[in-house]
Amino acid sequence: MRKVSIIYWSNGGNVEVLADHIFQGAKEAGAEVIVKHVNEASLEDVTSADAVAFGSPSMDNNRIEQSEMEPFINQFKLLSNENKNLVLFGSFGWDDGAFMKEWIVRMQDYGFNVVGNITVKEAPNGKELEKAKELGRMLVK
Ligand SMILES: Cc1cc2nc3c(=O)[nH]c(=O)nc-3n(C[C@H](O)[C@H](O)[C@H](O)COP(=O)(O)O)c2cc1C
Repeated sequence: MRKVSIIYWSNGGNVEVLADHIFQGAKEAGAEVIVKHVNEASLEDVTSADAVAFGSPSMDNNRIEQSEMEPFINQFKLLSNENKNLVLFGSFGWDDGAFMKEWIVRMQDYGFNVVGNITVKEAPNGKELEKAKELGRMLVK
C-alpha cells in the first residue's frame, strides 16, 4: 500500500480544510495516509512516505509560515529527497499566490517532484475543495 503524508500549518482553518480534502482523496484512492499539523510531524513522516503534501498560508510578508513551517521545510535542503512526488497547498490574503510560486521553485531545487499545487484566497470554495481531493488522488498514482 502506498504511504502518503500530509503536513501543514494552519491557524484559522483555511489550510487545514484543504489538508482534510487532500487526505480524503488519497484515502479514497487506497493509500495509507497520515495528516498532521507541522508541530506534530517528524522528518521520518516524510522520508518514510512514497508521496507527500505540504501546506501553509502566506504569512509574514508573503512567505510560508516562519516559526514552525519554515524550519520544518528547511530540513530538506541537505537531503536528496529522491525526486519524491510532492503536492503543495496553501491560502493567501492578498499576495495572489506569489508565495506559492517561490515555494514550488524552492522544493524543486531541494529535489522534490512537484506534481501539483493549489493556492486559494482565504477559505477554499467547493470547486477548490474538489481540486484538493483530486490532488490527493494524484499522490497515490
Ligand atoms: C498574522 C497574519 C499574517 C498574514 N500575512 C499574510 C501575507 O504576508 N500575505 C498574504 O497574502 N496573506 C497574509 N495573511 C493572510 C493569510 O494567508 C490567510 O488568512 C490564510 O487563509 C490563513 O490560513 P489559515 O486559516 O489556514 O491560518 C496573514 C494572516 C495573518 C493572520
